[in-house]
Amino acid sequence: MTFRLPPYPYDRLDGLAKLAAAHEGGMVDCSIGTPCDPPPAAVVEALATSGSERGYPASAGGLPLRDGVAAWLVRRFALAEALPVTSVAACVGTKEFVASVPHILRLRTPERDTVLYPAVSYPTYAMGADLAGCRAVPVPPAPGRLGGLDLAAIAPADAARALLLWSNSPSNPTGGLGDLGAEAAWGRSHGVPVFSDECYAEFTWDGPPRSVLQHGPDGVVAVQSLSKRSNLAGVRVGFYAGDAELVEFLRAVRQHAGLMVPGPAQAAGVVALADDVHVETQRALYRERLAYLAGILGDYGCPVALPEGGFYLWVPVPVDRWADAWAMAESFAADGGLLVSPGDLYGDAGAGHVRVALVQPMERLALVGQRLGRVSHG
Ligand SMILES: Cc1ncc(COP(=O)(O)O)c(C=O)c1O
Repeated sequence: MTFRLPPYPYDRLDGLAKLAAAHEGGMVDCSIGTPCDPPPAAVVEALATSGSERGYPASAGGLPLRDGVAAWLVRRFALAEALPVTSVAACVGTKEFVASVPHILRLRTPERDTVLYPAVSYPTYAMGADLAGCRAVPVPPAPGRLGGLDLAAIAPADAARALLLWSNSPSNPTGGLGDLGAEAAWGRSHGVPVFSDECYAEFTWDGPPRSVLQHGPDGVVAVQSLSKRSNLAGVRVGFYAGDAELVEFLRAVRQHAGLMVPGPAQAAGVVALADDVHVETQRALYRERLAYLAGILGDYGCPVALPEGGFYLWVPVPVDRWADAWAMAESFAADGGLLVSPGDLYGDAGAGHVRVALVQPMERLALVGQRLGRVSHG
């Protein structure tokens, strides 16, 4: 059977975008989690001055980048000891990594064909399974929580066929945190590698940033990105680190496939990883925006709790007011010029929510506040 791609999730928002754009002052786009704030000047400077344009970069990342990652992991997550640089490698932003890991792991364990992933999540976990011809099996959130995984709900037959388990804490879209220690232990006891997507770790609000690596590297791989922490989504620097054998297998296949982070991007990454001050500044911006918009939406009749981590509001649809998340998103666009993502873009289990990405500056959010404040909602 010919493989058929679904529509790209955000292309489905075109109609809502037109509605929002009709407002004087234009649309306030909080649909996609693309950073709008500038990266530090020294990081941009490094892009232009690395002198690394001529030669091919190392596919795994050069030593300065891998050393920088190992040092950052110790500093940020208080790891007892640094990982050897051979247990750290670069990727071209993490989306391509997420999409390609099942395909690569299938080369390692061809008898396994299943990708376990959070039921409400970043769409690329399931897409990576589809692209590899694998089964994508959703795992519900931890009971009574927005984040984490209900490990007890994984059927033994699915665990036996699993190539990997994806974890994402803090979660996009729900903002919930998971129990990374329990997930690592589950993976080890079932012989299933655990891949922990931690690109929002430094935007953890409920306690310190967490990494699966705090529970040891065996059988786990932490996946990290500079896109969100350093506003570098356009530069494409990510990395993965953890279990020596898994990292080496992935690194070797990726080298053959010609995947490389460009040298200037690596140089920028080294500077970005050495600095935590800009991350503190960014944290303050997201906190202010999250609190402000939660207040605005509450006044508009859509109460929402602040997330445990990340920069998204996961807003439940008041069922007495709207039939579903698309109808609610339409009202946000029509009344506030605000573009948000209906929750089913993140899996069927997300259908009762919309996701609001707080990637717009306060003056744009204030515009939404003014517009929604003018609307009576009985
Ligand atoms: C959970 C999650 N993982 C991975 C990514 C990919 O980020 P990048 O490819 O920019 O590293 C995103 C981006 O939105 C994300 O939300």
